[in-house]
Amino acid sequence: MSEVKNIVMSGIRPTGYLHLGNYFGAMRNYVRMQEEYPCFFMVADLHSLTTHPDTRTLKESVHRVLAENIACGLDPEKVAFYCQSHVPETSELYLYFNMLAYKGELEKTTTFKDKVRLQPDNVNAGLLTYPVLQTADILLHRANLVPVGKDQEQHLEMARNFAQRFNHRYGPVFPEPQAFNYGQELVKVPSLDGAGKMSKSENQNATLYLADDDDLIRKKLMKAKTDAGPTAPNQPKPDYIENLFALMKLVSAPDTIAHFEQAYQGCTIRYGDMKKQLGEDMVRFITPIREKAAAIHSDEDYLRRVMQLGADKARSSALETMTLVRSAMGLNYY
Ligand code: TYM
Repeated sequence: MSEVKNIVMSGIRPTGYLHLGNYFGAMRNYVRMQEEYPCFFMVADLHSLTTHPDTRTLKESVHRVLAENIACGLDPEKVAFYCQSHVPETSELYLYFNMLAYKGELEKTTTFKDKVRLQPDNVNAGLLTYPVLQTADILLHRANLVPVGKDQEQHLEMARNFAQRFNHRYGPVFPEPQAFNYGQELVKVPSLDGAGKMSKSENQNATLYLADDDDLIRKKLMKAKTDAGPTAPNQPKPDYIENLFALMKLVSAPDTIAHFEQAYQGCTIRYGDMKKQLGEDMVRFITPIREKAAAIHSDEDYLRRVMQLGADKARSSALETMTLVRSAMGLNYY
């Protein structure tokens, strides 16, 4: 039996500033995976057109996503780090997969239903077939490991279905990709108001961005939702308090976490102190990333070289896959 070759692929839409959710759900894994596997990471500019048709700020956003990923430790020499629209084979594969995807299943996708609610005047076909384009991104490199946050779980399930359908109809070309996280479970970083998750374009006052300055980080954390505190020892934590502890686990030292945990269990916790401490630990975490990203962002020549190198690597992998795809489908008439 042939051994499975692990190949990694993931993407981020350039629809706003990157935040802690992107970091802990996705980018932290990218940086670790690049040491272990062949990796393809991509700025999903085509996907962003489904919700952000105005392209005037797109270049700026694409550059920022590139810079912030590199500032977090992504190495464009080690991986293929590219822009989705620079690899036109993506669109060809997307077309083929569209013939294997059914309207009913696409309409049932949670992200589609959310977007219909958010933008009722722009329910475009690209929005409906969003998971098909994502499948093309992944399978273009025949990747099987996809580091993503919890919100992408359903898209990955659909990608597996589309891969299976293709293989069943035309022959075994694709692996069945899995959502990946180094911990056991996929991550969801909650928003600070206890209502939903951190997000690029919604919930901005309750989201911590990698570009936020020190005062803004402290201010957002001080405003995070709390209450009068536990009234009996060992009470279960309400969601929004659980969230604060979850954030602390991401950036604070173990003894700091243990201190506040004990204070909670013993009903002596002062949430003001906890938020202040979390603010300082968060500033220590975000500041070096923000400063490094700003320096990289200002170097357009460097970013252009990164995109060129990434596109070259991604296209060479894409061409190999597309040769297999066309041949499996019988689209080779020469
Ligand atoms: P996007 O741009 O919304 O988010 C990028 C990555 O960040 C993760 N993420 C989170 N993780 C934990 N907590 C949060 N609050 C949080 N918010 C975002 C996302 O799960 C994602 O991993 N459809 C994708 C982009 C995409 C893609 C792909 C991903 C396009 N093609 C191919 C994987 C493979 C998206 O909209 O991610």
